[in-house]
Amino acid sequence: MTAKEELEPFFAPKSIAVVGASRKPGKIGHEILRNIKLSGFSGNVFPINPGAESILDFKCYENITKIPQRIDLAIIVVPAVDTEAAVRECGEKKVPAAIIISSGFSEVGNTDLERSIIEVAQKYRMRIIGPNTFGIFYAGSKMNATFGPNYVLGGKTAFITQSGALGLALMSWTTEERYGVSAIVSIGNKADVDDADLVDYFSLDESVKSILIYMEGLKNGRRFFESAKRAVKNKPIVVIKAGSSQRGAQAASSHTGSIAGQDIVFSAAFEQAGVMRAESMTQAFDWIQAINENPVPEGEKMVIVTNGGGIGVLATDRCEKLGLSLMDIPADLKEELRTLMPSFGSMRNPIDLTANADDEVYRKMVSILLARKDVHGVIALFCQTANIDPLLVGEAIIASSGGGKATKPITAAMVGGHLSQVAYSRMLEKKFAAYPTAERAVDGMYALIARRRELESRK
Ligand code: COA
Repeated sequence: MTAKEELEPFFAPKSIAVVGASRKPGKIGHEILRNIKLSGFSGNVFPINPGAESILDFKCYENITKIPQRIDLAIIVVPAVDTEAAVRECGEKKVPAAIIISSGFSEVGNTDLERSIIEVAQKYRMRIIGPNTFGIFYAGSKMNATFGPNYVLGGKTAFITQSGALGLALMSWTTEERYGVSAIVSIGNKADVDDADLVDYFSLDESVKSILIYMEGLKNGRRFFESAKRAVKNKPIVVIKAGSSQRGAQAASSHTGSIAGQDIVFSAAFEQAGVMRAESMTQAFDWIQAINENPVPEGEKMVIVTNGGGIGVLATDRCEKLGLSLMDIPADLKEELRTLMPSFGSMRNPIDLTANADDEVYRKMVSILLARKDVHGVIALFCQTANIDPLLVGEAIIASSGGGKATKPITAAMVGGHLSQVAYSRMLEKKFAAYPTAERAVDGMYALIARRRELESRK
């Protein structure tokens, strides 16, 4: 069996049993069952609870071995002391995969119990995610087997998180911010399935365009970096590695029990493997957004187009800091653009269209730039003014770049008050890499350039 086939029951199960499904709303075992139901999972679902006839209209069984059909995935939500017996029963039922939600294992020093449940699982060739996890969301199976929010926006990124609470918070945040995800996996204590297994799996998963990992530490660094190096050939991996400060590293090690290690060693290893390390959550999502919605540029010559000198300067500073090159505008392009520009505009790069620029000017300008062979990417910036409607400008930028199917990378910033924010969210909804500040639009483009450099270095 390939590694991909082995993990398939976690993501594409035909039947799920929730061991420890509770009758009481608000309890974790109840909420997971409810989320599975609300998310529209189309397979069979079996709550296991010795004291109940049915829960949420699903017929209950007192024990998993009593279910008269094959079970692909078990979700174990019983107190830690009862997990070993539950895993053994799943093994007897020949369940190939189990997620153990329960806490109370190595994260609190109870390593013996964790080791013994893994030994039981291995005896039955069962793979385990957890313990100490909040579960899995997988858009392709319409399966929300978590106790997080019941609605999650589908998308193109597989998000692997070592932090439970942070992952749960991000589940709501991604939907709020219109960043879709194809999968969310809370890996908990990584007693069996770890980051390397999941990277191997998602690198072959066609519904996944990019992989995002929140990591505090690694148990088997070598294995992870080997997997990552292979996976990066197919899709980008962005890592947020917490614990870069000394105190942060101590906090990470007491949080999940994993060794955070020397940060400098991690940084070097990420770089060598071609993994992009983000400094913050915001930066990670900004990168992912640009990567998911854009092709990799064919070169590095970028053009900034703006209606405000100030944001143009900020974007230019950011470009320089990140090593992005702004092209000198050639004479023939200047000639072409002259008709669109007022005499007081600037033809240098950033091209300053001035505050007069309306949606029509943006539409034409971006179209011309993207059609040029010598322009490899465009960063479009808009500062809100009283005379121009940001919503129309947002629409124009999307339309001129192929309505979300750009053949060249483009990122945009819609800077300003309420209307700009609405314009920015609508652009995100239409799968366009839009940002609320100029610097973040540059960061998005930087991710695409970094991806290009990585792929070029492998040729
Ligand atoms: N088989 C089947 N059902 C069982 C069972 C077993 N072996 N043992 C208990 N149950 C039933 C109980 O009767 C109960 O159902 P009810 O509420 O209808 O009576 C339900 O399963 C849950 O058992 P209970 O003993 O009430 O546990 P709990 O809900 O208080 O806590 C956990 C269980 C797993 C949620 C808890 O121990 C825990 O670990 N919480 C932390 C989880 C967490 O934070 N994970 C990490 C997130 S990042």
